[in-house]
Amino acid sequence: MSDPVFLIQKLEQTHSLRPEEYELLLRARNETLTALLQERAVAVRKAVYGNAVFTRGLIEISSFCKNNCLYCGIRRDNPKAERYRLSPEEILSCCREGWALGFRTFVLQGGEDPFFSDELLTSLLRQIKQNYPDCAVTLSLGERSRASYERLFEAGADRYLLRHETACKSHYERLHPAELSWDHRMQCLRELKEIGYQVGCGFMVGSPGQTERELAMDLKFVESFRPAMCGIGPFIPHRDTPFADCPGGSVALSCYLLSILRLIQPNLLLPATTALGTLDPLGREKGIQAGANVVMPNLSPVSVRKKYALYDNKICTGEESAQCRSCLSQRMDSIGYQLVTDRGDPKVF
Ligand code: SAM
Ligand code: FES
Repeated sequence: MSDPVFLIQKLEQTHSLRPEEYELLLRARNETLTALLQERAVAVRKAVYGNAVFTRGLIEISSFCKNNCLYCGIRRDNPKAERYRLSPEEILSCCREGWALGFRTFVLQGGEDPFFSDELLTSLLRQIKQNYPDCAVTLSLGERSRASYERLFEAGADRYLLRHETACKSHYERLHPAELSWDHRMQCLRELKEIGYQVGCGFMVGSPGQTERELAMDLKFVESFRPAMCGIGPFIPHRDTPFADCPGGSVALSCYLLSILRLIQPNLLLPATTALGTLDPLGREKGIQAGANVVMPNLSPVSVRKKYALYDNKICTGEESAQCRSCLSQRMDSIGYQLVTDRGDPKVF
């Protein structure tokens, strides 16, 4: 088996390792390897994207969810979750505000809420694309039928974010109730890609029971699936879920994984997630310095932000959208990066 420094060189040159090599690289994590990976990831990211950091305006459209994921604060069986859904007018108003602030991508995210039918969403998408033809729209609304994904794509959705959560089927079954299937999640991801969406997958870091073996499988999955985006962030327990007492994931391991992902796929769109910023006041800066190149400030109305509580102590729930954007802009400036007004499509690599 190889020396970890050699594995980093091999990864940078070939963009691929064997699963047991990824596992070794994860198990060997120390300060020296972290610094080396970070340095290589930043060099690769700079070569593709320079100092630009893309932004996406996140609009949390519904906290209703028919699913019962064991880790998630807005799961169906959490009676304490505060439920809301935004009207199409409210969503359009978030887009109006976002466009004026310089956002050129809107991410409509929510629980799996049947209220958001194909009819409602296609009409909404058409209005957004008509009002803002220079913007991309990302949907993150969970598992739907192929026919539904097709209709939404035809109505103008450009991207779809559906984290695979874990590439290991038995681990998936530990994190989800029996009614949710890993095979179906993977099928949705394949269908989204076939339809022509820019697809984002992703996983939580430090989810209960996860080991280096499962993470190595996630890395191998990203390598073969070749998504446009990959959203990763630490698992953070929510007090009213079955995982309330489980330990959370770490910022350091999440950043180490961001660096590895950058070397796997140099043009990958990698967000420095809100979960990173929740665990560490400088978490998003650390994510960018590890190789991420996207941030997703909140554009939801302040009145609903606390209700979209996926995990405890989520940040940015009290600020207006303009404050969120300027706060992140200053944070990026402070580490030598610039938020750009751009759709932020992946560069061809
Ligand atoms: N319902 C859509 C879906 O399933 O893709 C989108 C919303 S879902 C809440 C978005 C993501 O939040 C999930 O894919 C999951 O990875 C993440 N998430 C949920 N609970 C979390 C927690 N406790 N800690 C960290 N991330 C969490
Ligand atoms: Fe549906 Fe979390 S269980 S969004």
